[in-house]
Amino acid sequence: MVFDFIDGGADDERTLRENEAALARLTFAPRAMTNVREVSTGLELFGVPLSMPLLLSPTGLPGLAHPKAELAAARAAREAGILFTASTVSSYSLQEIASTVAGPHWFQLYAWNDKALTGKLVDKAREAGYRMILLTIDTPVVGNRERDLRNGMVLPPRVTFANATDMLRRWSWIWGQIRGPGVKIPNIADLETQVHKGGTGPAGYLKGLFNPEQSWDYIGWIKERFGGPVGVKGIITAADARRARDAGADTIVVSNHGGRQLDGAPATIAVLPEIVEALRGSGMPILIDSGIRRGSDIVRALALGATACMIGRPWLWGLAAGGTDGVRRVIEILRAELERTMALVGATNLRELSPEVIRQP
Ligand SMILES: Cc1cc2nc3c(=O)[nH]c(=O)nc-3n(C[C@H](O)[C@H](O)[C@H](O)COP(=O)(O)O)c2cc1C
Repeated sequence: MVFDFIDGGADDERTLRENEAALARLTFAPRAMTNVREVSTGLELFGVPLSMPLLLSPTGLPGLAHPKAELAAARAAREAGILFTASTVSSYSLQEIASTVAGPHWFQLYAWNDKALTGKLVDKAREAGYRMILLTIDTPVVGNRERDLRNGMVLPPRVTFANATDMLRRWSWIWGQIRGPGVKIPNIADLETQVHKGGTGPAGYLKGLFNPEQSWDYIGWIKERFGGPVGVKGIITAADARRARDAGADTIVVSNHGGRQLDGAPATIAVLPEIVEALRGSGMPILIDSGIRRGSDIVRALALGATACMIGRPWLWGLAAGGTDGVRRVIEILRAELERTMALVGATNLRELSPEVIRQP
């Protein structure tokens, strides 16, 4: 059930598959006989030096994968010199993550249909020292994840014969769930009691929270209240990239939510070039996620104009397999692959990754 919650996508999972397939279709045009003894993967993003162009994407309820959840992932990211993004529906609260692992961290915001609640989340992020808010815009309603429906992985969770026997066979997981945060959503739970005294429980409440009436004015409102940079996550068209820029966004994440929302959305790598073109001259860093699985995928995305990549499922797999060590290992593997691929295509630093390293058929 938990594996499918992480691994799965919406409807027929066509976008989910296409994310990786479109990356796989891009082959390289290496430049041989260049001196690649020293390969540097460092960059600066919003004044923060990063050891490599990688960030951890926000994912909800990582406590289902491992009791240390964000605490483990944020620690592995900090040690590796990359950035962690906490989800609105994180398993540990924003304050707890920031006080356990010193930042800088980023925060992903869902603009709930309750503006007062959304504003309080923005205040919490500011007070806890988060450096960036990424507003996710591809979730006006929740995608149709049929694996979750089949498994009873819905809010509130449904106990079925299949998921009960599945869970009972996994004692170490159950033990982790007893010790860890479980399916709690602390960022909303504490606010809910303040904002909606006597309302329904967090799980049922969450479902009605997604905002089917989002608009671009939200960006300016959030920026003013936060007092720091605000990015938009979930851009897959050049037109929306321009709208985000015009609304004052400081960065965008080209993302289809890892194929979990609109099935039939294009692979992010396929739309990256037109989005880069639309934002040319704006100086906005362009991030991308959805399907990044290897260091060579990071090279593909940077060659086509991305500033950095983000990963969702890969860090969750590492977390589930080995907590902090597991996430650390995922980052190390990606770093080694990135350095090796850069050397193999003949690039010594990130600026040398241009469309020329991608073969044009
Ligand atoms: C289990 C899971 C939970 C997620 N929860 C959130 C979330 O709370 N907020 C959000 O903006 N994106 C969420 N995402 C999407 C990720 O931020 C990211 O866009 C996606 O995972 C990238 O694709 P990848 O998994 O192929 O790397 C989630 C993804 C997964 C797999």
